[in-house]
Amino acid sequence: MLIRQRALLTFCFWSTLTVSREEQSIYRSVTTPNEAYFAETFDTSPLDRKWVLSQSLKEGDLDIYKYDGEWLLEESKNQASPGNKGLVLKSPGHHHAISAYLRTVYHFREKPLVLQYEVFFQNGIDCGGGYIKLLSHSDDLRLSQFNDATPYTIMFGPDKCGSIYKVHFIFCHRNPLTGMYEEKHARQPETDLSDYFTDHSPHLYTLNLYPDNTFEILIDQTLVNNGSLLEDMDPPVMPPREIEDPEDTKPFNWDDRRHIPDPTVTKPHDWDEEAPRLIADPTVQKPTGWIEEEEPFIPDPEAQPPHDWSVEMDGEWEAPLIANPACSHAVGCGPWKPPMVPNPAYKGKWRPPMIDNPNYQGKWQPRMIPNPAYFEDPQPFRMSPVSAVGFELWSLTGDVLFDNILLCDDLEIAKRWTKDTWGQRQTKGVVERLLFATGKHPWLWGVYVFTVGLPIILFISFMWPDKRFGPLDQDYYYKKCDEPQPDSPQGPEGHKSSTDYGPNSSSGLRKREINTAQKKSDLELKAFK
Ligand SMILES: *[C@@H]1O[C@H](CO)[C@@H](O)[C@H](O)[C@H]1NC(C)=O
Repeated sequence: MLIRQRALLTFCFWSTLTVSREEQSIYRSVTTPNEAYFAETFDTSPLDRKWVLSQSLKEGDLDIYKYDGEWLLEESKNQASPGNKGLVLKSPGHHHAISAYLRTVYHFREKPLVLQYEVFFQNGIDCGGGYIKLLSHSDDLRLSQFNDATPYTIMFGPDKCGSIYKVHFIFCHRNPLTGMYEEKHARQPETDLSDYFTDHSPHLYTLNLYPDNTFEILIDQTLVNNGSLLEDMDPPVMPPREIEDPEDTKPFNWDDRRHIPDPTVTKPHDWDEEAPRLIADPTVQKPTGWIEEEEPFIPDPEAQPPHDWSVEMDGEWEAPLIANPACSHAVGCGPWKPPMVPNPAYKGKWRPPMIDNPNYQGKWQPRMIPNPAYFEDPQPFRMSPVSAVGFELWSLTGDVLFDNILLCDDLEIAKRWTKDTWGQRQTKGVVERLLFATGKHPWLWGVYVFTVGLPIILFISFMWPDKRFGPLDQDYYYKKCDEPQPDSPQGPEGHKSSTDYGPNSSSGLRKREINTAQKKSDLELKAFK
């Protein structure tokens, strides 16, 4: 009885799963919002309608393209959205550069900047970047010449090398005094970001920049870093107001000794600085029976030089030493020395005690002067306008997929776009999934009712046992359960069947359906008895 129930449950589970997988797999292409400065799903247009490959040449070499890495439009390896295409960086170990113009120039004014895109390290990531650049607007900007020196306003996104996992947010700030652009880096968050690089899943990176000079960095809609352009960038946007005067030097008579020897104390007259640290122990006497006149070892009187010994060649021959036989019954031989012990009269060098220096002037510091390089920029948000997006990347691992790039100035547009693109693939809750499936396949209601109802019926039958379920029947049940069950996915045979009749195998499902139908009619027959 229970065996059959298990089979039925398995069938219900598989069918539900199969149906909802089917539902999920229909990738809906998204219409791009008109208000966006840039929106790209890589689903509709061929790559070259919008994107420009860099033909920048290698420095000092007029024949060789610097960026020889290949870019392709390919379907994502993500199981949750077959049919969804993205831009794929293909060539491991090569430089890649590709870029596209915005619909219109983005100016940093009263509205926020929202930049987001998905990165999927399909083959994992060894060492390489996945960041995007917002290229600064200029009359000189030519996308076909896009390279690492092309001025950019913002660089944003993941980067990994060795064990360092980063999500960059760098912006180029124009120094109003020098007119030079300087890179300002957001400090890296303290949270461990490594999972986003290693879990073989696509992730959504979002940068929100606000006119009040604050920024937020989100991954998969979760805040991972935020801060202020005025306070949390390195180096700081504004230079220090004052600096140490480089002309100032420490006066020769500056007294920075915190403590000095007490001048009022002199060395006591009985202080003997010369007394040795160690003396011969005066309590120890030479032991009786110690023969100082005899050496402990003497040259062996029996030894002869080897017959081929040559004084000219080998030098004077010396007999090997042996223990002195005259010493064999003595306590010791040779000069006797008493052991050394610490000298109680030892005082060492006399030092006067230290006192606080009454003339102490403190640690010398150069005086501060106004920083000639100082400037104020209360609005670093007002960055250089942007007219293109680009990837200029090198990676040791290929097949990095980019998708769903959005640049806009409205959080609501971004929210809708996120829901339509990234949100479309997010796993729904179990109940939501089951209900969603019945919308398309009302017959599933029957399956659900049966799945929920059957255990209740069984429970009731066990609580109020009928005479039909005698001890014989129960014995039969327990015995059966000790053996591998053909219908059970846990049994050895079941293992095989779970691969053969997986959720994707329609023939497997059919077999199961037939099986289950059989069991069902058996069950009904039994119930009618
Ligand atoms: C960063 O986020 C935290 C938590 O939401 C918030 O308390 C803090 O004010 C934010 N900082 C900035 C500079 O926006």
